[in-house]
Amino acid sequence: MKYFIANWKMHGDTESISEYCLALNSLEIRHPQQCILALPAPLLPIAKKLLPNNAIQLAAQCVSQYASGAYTGDISATMYSDIGCQFALIGHSERRAIESIPHTCNQITQCISTKIQPILCIGESAEEKANLETKAVISAQIEPCLKLIQGESKLILAYEPRWAIGSGLTPSQDEIMIVTSWLKESYGCEVLYGGSVNDTNLAALGKTGIDGVLVGGASLDSKQTISMVKTCTQYF
Ligand code: PGA
Repeated sequence: MKYFIANWKMHGDTESISEYCLALNSLEIRHPQQCILALPAPLLPIAKKLLPNNAIQLAAQCVSQYASGAYTGDISATMYSDIGCQFALIGHSERRAIESIPHTCNQITQCISTKIQPILCIGESAEEKANLETKAVISAQIEPCLKLIQGESKLILAYEPRWAIGSGLTPSQDEIMIVTSWLKESYGCEVLYGGSVNDTNLAALGKTGIDGVLVGGASLDSKQTISMVKTCTQYF
């Protein structure tokens, strides 16, 4: 698997990110394998300073839909680029709860104009899955964003069923394969999986042909992160 992405969400402080980065510096990462840390904004410059070899890259957890202006509290894609982020999570389900699809599209536009690689998170709720609406729901999340992709820019997709996030539940290998292979065929994008990934279930998930994983809770622990990055290498 090419991508291992740690999503720290709203966790961590100066001490915990410092210890984490020092532990991760022991990792050997084979180019072009990518280990990416999506950290709370204040922790990104600390990580940048403590990860000198550039093998580990940084991601924003979201970006403003605007380029600049009177938007108190927002952080623009340009600002994230300026502090060394090469990637951004866009449309995470925890953001979609407060952001509409047009909002997500504007964020993709901001990423493209600042050459930040967007990782578009998509996924269905438990109810939508039960109603067999998975493909319809995620197509509606992807297609408006895909229309904005031109020239050399691309979308990376992260399939994260909402019911799997933070719940300890994951789809079966077959269920992941059905959705991710359909996504690859339909949209020609690299496809990651996220939702309750940990050190124990990662090897089985790796057999589904996904291009990587987006890991929340389990990525807060440096030992588990190192072990998961090594497992990803076996499927690379
Ligand atoms: P989880 O979160 O690994 O804690 O389920 C994944 C995510 O929200 O990206």
